[in-house]
Amino acid sequence: MKSESDCTLTIAIDGPAASGKSVVGREVARRLGIRFLDTGSMYRAITWAAIQRGVNANCASKLSSLACSSGIRLVTQSDEDRLLLDGTDITDRLRLPEVDSIVSTVSAVSGVRRALVAQQRVIAADGPIVMCGRDIGTVVLPEADAKVFLTASAEVRAERRAAEMQGRHNFGQVLDELRRRDRVDSERDDSPLSPAEDATTICSDDMTVEEVVLEILSKVRQC
Ligand code: DC
Repeated sequence: MKSESDCTLTIAIDGPAASGKSVVGREVARRLGIRFLDTGSMYRAITWAAIQRGVNANCASKLSSLACSSGIRLVTQSDEDRLLLDGTDITDRLRLPEVDSIVSTVSAVSGVRRALVAQQRVIAADGPIVMCGRDIGTVVLPEADAKVFLTASAEVRAERRAAEMQGRHNFGQVLDELRRRDRVDSERDDSPLSPAEDATTICSDDMTVEEVVLEILSKVRQC
């Protein structure tokens, strides 16, 4: 087994929107005393930058230049992950509905992916990490020590997301939006959402966060 202080320990958690990757990944990282990166926040940051600059979500070349020229920095302040885009803290913008509605389109652009995947590999090279996203086990860190594909039925994910939104959106709207994003993320040509061949799939439909965390930790102990 690798110890958590092993400088090469990398854990990849992939899965569809609202499958609980970040909650679970953050907790696994906390218990192991290692870093956590939610790569979705990086795609959201470029999407926010595009909205701010009036770049059309279908203009691949402009989006790619934007991703190459934007400085994304992730910092932890008072136990919270903050994302700085060219020095400005935009964490509170990342989950706005206008970002949600086009982030799948922006993240399907190969030039955007190349720029962000390169940054994610640099971050991973810095030491032990839990990284979550859609393509971590397949593309970003194919040599990760532990790979998990965390999923849940669309209905369960929509229920959890609707509860988080405290009634601001109804269940049907949330379910439709999740299904749309699942389709775009899974059907894109570049790095579509799919489990790595050597990933363990965990369906969290009938599991608590604690149960999922313990299952991942037991997998990590077998590394
Ligand atoms: O996990 P999330 O909902 O914050 O991700 C936002 C979008 O970013 C999602 O539609 C797919 C994309 N994404 C990706 O393509 N690759 C990743 N590694 C992480 C996210």
